[in-house]
Amino acid sequence: MRRISISPLAATLPISGQGQEMETDMAGALSPIDTAKFVAAKRAVEFVQDGMRVGLGTGSTAAWMVRCLGELVREDGLRITGVPTSTRTAELARQCGIKVVSLDEAKWLDLTIDGADEFDDDMNLIKGGGGALLMEKIVATASDQMIVITDAAKQVAQLGAFPLPIEVIPFGWQTTKALVEEMLVSLDVLGQTSSLRMNGERPFLTDEGNYIVDLHLNRIGNARQLAMVLNQVPGVVENGLFIDICDIVVIGHGDGRVEVRDANTGAVEEGRIDFVDSDNIFADLGD
Ligand code: 5RP
Repeated sequence: MRRISISPLAATLPISGQGQEMETDMAGALSPIDTAKFVAAKRAVEFVQDGMRVGLGTGSTAAWMVRCLGELVREDGLRITGVPTSTRTAELARQCGIKVVSLDEAKWLDLTIDGADEFDDDMNLIKGGGGALLMEKIVATASDQMIVITDAAKQVAQLGAFPLPIEVIPFGWQTTKALVEEMLVSLDVLGQTSSLRMNGERPFLTDEGNYIVDLHLNRIGNARQLAMVLNQVPGVVENGLFIDICDIVVIGHGDGRVEVRDANTGAVEEGRIDFVDSDNIFADLGD
């Protein structure tokens, strides 16, 4: 089976006329941030093997990953079963030719690949910027391995600058929000305010029909404690803190470099992505 080519940083990139031109064109066609997301996604799909059941994350970085996987399915005959973490990822996966099943059909997954809003040195995450944190956490937890694909800007010394999303039941949401704010006063966080996420004039609705409340904490001193306490508040379905769930972080850079960090072994690998074979996934992503 063909696999994407990863050139060691020190090695010379392929300079076979067309390949080099395409790489330059492709790299030039993408902004640095999209290049970073794309190369992280492209490196991450290297971990996917024939026959795997794969959790498919949500968001713009995850959309690149779905496109890359779809390319492997269509062109290399890679056989995988995908479990999407949102209706929009399910739609994209089907468009890309990936077989989609529910988590209950798949039961357990070999691997989940997803984006993140923030990650720290311990590879703990804030997720849910796209509002899919509940399904994302269920799917990632039901996987042997979770790989996070991200750009370098999302690495933080301490989680919390990105507003922490919590998914809440619509019934009594204002009471739930007030209880959460009250609880935050006694916890190691810098901010205690929260806001209901909106979609125009109406509350943003998750795929499960719930609301999202974003917590403006600025700095989270004890993410593990916060994750546990938040879920004790009646009405809170789940929070966007992913603690000890991520196994590998693949960090893409705007110049095509990728870094792979393994949380379990501490190993770090650096490389560079060759864009040559990817021309047909650069169409509109719709995400
Ligand atoms: C969706 C998520 C996303 O993975 C997260 O918001 C990152 O998104 P993007 O890759 O678009 O920056 O958690 O709920």
